[in-house]
Formats: sequence, structure tokens, C-alpha cells
Amino acid sequence: MNINLTKSAGLHGELTIPGDKSISHRAIMFGALSEGTTEITNFLQGADCLSTISCFQAMGVEIENMIDRVRIHGAGLHGLKTPQQMLDVGNSGTTTRLISGILAGQAFTSTLNGDASIQKRPMKRIIDPLTQMGADIRSIHDNGCAPLEIHGGHLHGIHYQSPVASAQVKSCVLLAGLYADGTTAVTEPVLSRNHTELMLSGFGATVTSIGTTATIEPEPRLIGQKIAVPGDISSAAYWIAAALAVPNSELVLKNVGINPTRDGILRVVEAMGADITRENVHTVSGELVCDLIVRSSSLHGTTVSGELIPTLIDEIPVIAVLSCFAEGETIIKDAQELKVKESNRIDTVVEGLLAMGADATATDDGMIIRGKKTLHGATIDSHLDHRIAMSFAVAGLLCDTPTTILNADSVVISYPDFYESLKQISI
Ligand code: S3P
Repeated sequence: MNINLTKSAGLHGELTIPGDKSISHRAIMFGALSEGTTEITNFLQGADCLSTISCFQAMGVEIENMIDRVRIHGAGLHGLKTPQQMLDVGNSGTTTRLISGILAGQAFTSTLNGDASIQKRPMKRIIDPLTQMGADIRSIHDNGCAPLEIHGGHLHGIHYQSPVASAQVKSCVLLAGLYADGTTAVTEPVLSRNHTELMLSGFGATVTSIGTTATIEPEPRLIGQKIAVPGDISSAAYWIAAALAVPNSELVLKNVGINPTRDGILRVVEAMGADITRENVHTVSGELVCDLIVRSSSLHGTTVSGELIPTLIDEIPVIAVLSCFAEGETIIKDAQELKVKESNRIDTVVEGLLAMGADATATDDGMIIRGKKTLHGATIDSHLDHRIAMSFAVAGLLCDTPTTILNADSVVISYPDFYESLKQISI
């Protein structure tokens, strides 16, 4: 499916942001490993999270998806059943890496695989620590990628020094740690999102976090919970950028998760001069949430680097689009991880921006953008990457001529209603 976009005269209204993808995955996984029932509201009905549901169903967990709520009848820590076929993780890196940690602790053999993009994503980063813990896990084509074969079994607790700031790696090791014979710890170079630590302790695990080290004790008794999933700040990011850059805009974004390990986009746009107000700040299921009011603003360039990067890694494509409308230069660095996302996002972002006439240069660990040139409509290939489709849809609202996004339906991964919401707020 392709989508056409034209210049917007202003964005107005109120949107309730769909559930956080990271938190939705974890709620399914931890509910499946718990005793009793877990009820999830505002679960993200995106393709990635549905992949997680189907993987656990394939291991015998009863999960009722009633759309407005999801009910999981937990199997307990040792209740998963041998899957009868290869687990299909679809396009989801989070499913692949987190489930591998769980599978490493099971007394059965499993295989998993996903789409063409997943088969290119690096899995050595989880194969290494799981192997150190004593798991027998291998890349079937011996290329460090899925498909993976995992012979679960006896695991040892380790203290893993992760070379990357990745919540998926950290969570994989912590989940394997549930099944280890002693304490498991992960130290990362920079703190990544901490939803696993927060939610697992809510289910009854003993998890401690000190600085960039998270530690977990094995064999907890996990008990089913009620989880209200906050709106995904990574999805809100498109509307934040659009409302800031499109003149005559004012948007109210309801129920946005602002966990400090995820709120980097707010800090960056505020540093660029954004007019954003946080209202009704409160905590839901252990996560900080608020409503955001975003108004058109005159912005200036900034530098995005270092410890900020993991707190906004998925928002960099849309921050890059936004920086085209800021005065001066925006430098994004220390973001090599962009190369191993659903697409190589340094390449796909810069390619799209250049097609629109922006002044953008790719670097080895990010990009440099000189703003305030008029962008022109272009045909943009999403490269089947949901965040590229949505970022360039935002750019399309700001171009002087029409834009077409190819493979625009890739938004189904994290924001199935994206284009309907856009229609609702755009004039
Ligand atoms: C995620 C962590 C991030 C992020 C991804 C979701 C998670 O990946 O890019 O969309 O749910 O843990 P990394 O941990 O690999 O950086």
C-alpha cells in the first residue's frame, strides 16, 4: 500500500496514544510465566506484539485477545510446553531477543525465525551471554542471525558486561537469569530502557538496579497482575515533531509514557526551543505517564549524543526530519545502533531527506543536518521499516509538493491506526 501526503495548514485536536510496544511485549511474556491471571489494558495491537502472543500460545499458554483487553492464563515459570513448530517472531527484534532468554532456561529444544529483516538483525549479542550462562544456542546458518536453535537447560548466573546499551540484550540476560543457579547481573555502557526491571519486580521478582547494573535473583514466584499499558512515547514522537514544525498547530497527546529512560525526545526538542507542556503527571503500573500539549515552535539545531541516545533511539528518524525545520545545524552522534534496526536507519533517513532536498550528511555514527531549507515532496520507500514510513509521512506534511510513501502499511508493526489519526488532526 502507498500513501500520499500534502502540505498541512495546521494540526489540531486530541489523540490518545496507543499502548507502548516495549511494555506490551513484556506484559505478555511475564504474564505467561506467572501463576494466575494477568489482565492487560491498552495493549498495543501492533503486529510485533501479536507475534509475541502467538509465540507464547505456541508454547501452550492460553491468551485471550479481546482487543480492549488481553487476558493471560499464566503457565508459571516452569509451565511452558515444547512448541510443535518453529516459533514465528515476524518482524520483532524484541520478541526474538527476549524470548531467547526465556527459551534458554527451558527443558526443551526450540527453533525460532522471522521475516527477511529479522534474519539480518545481529543475534550474536544475545548468543554470547547466553552461551556464557551455559545455554546451547546457535545461529542455524552460522551467520550470527536468526533462525536460531536453542537447547534450553541448566544455566549459571553471570555478571555480564554488555558491549552495547541495549534493553533487548539486558532483558534477554535477566530473563535467562530467572532460570539460573545463582544471581545474574548485567552492566551496560549507558542505561537503556528499564521496563523489564520495573515490571518484573511488579510481578514478584527480586530485581535491583544500581547505576547501569541490573541484578536479578533466580526462581522467583511470579504472580499475575493487572497492567495498564501507557501510551508509547515512540508513537507520540511523530505528532510531537509534526505539531512543532507545522505552523498553526496545537495538539493534546493523552496518556504518554515518560519513563526517564525513554523521554529523551522531550529533552531534545525542549533544548531546540519547543513549546511543550506536561500535564496530569502520574504513575500507572509503575511507569510515569502524562498528557502533552505541543504547539508550533520556532526551533534551533542541537547536538544529540552520549547518554541521551538510548533514551530516544527509535525517535531519531523523526528528530532528523524535525531538525530540517530548525535554524542551524543538528548533529546526531554515538548512534551506531541505528544501523542494525528494522532498516539501516542512518542510510534510510539520509536517503529520504536527500530525496526531499534537505541538507543532510550521513556519518559513521549518526548524521548532520543543516536546517531551514524548504523540503520538496518525493517518493519515499519505507524499506518496510515502520518508523521510516511514519517519519517521512510527517515530512510529507511539511513539503511544498505532494509526497508518496511506498510500503506505507509497514506502520502496522507499531501504530496500526497512524494514518486514521493523521486524518483526524490534520486540516
Ligand atoms: C526495545 C529496545 C530497543 C528499541 C526497540 C525496543 C525493547 O532496542 O530500539 O524498538 O523493547 O527492549 P535495543 O535494546 O536493541 O536498542
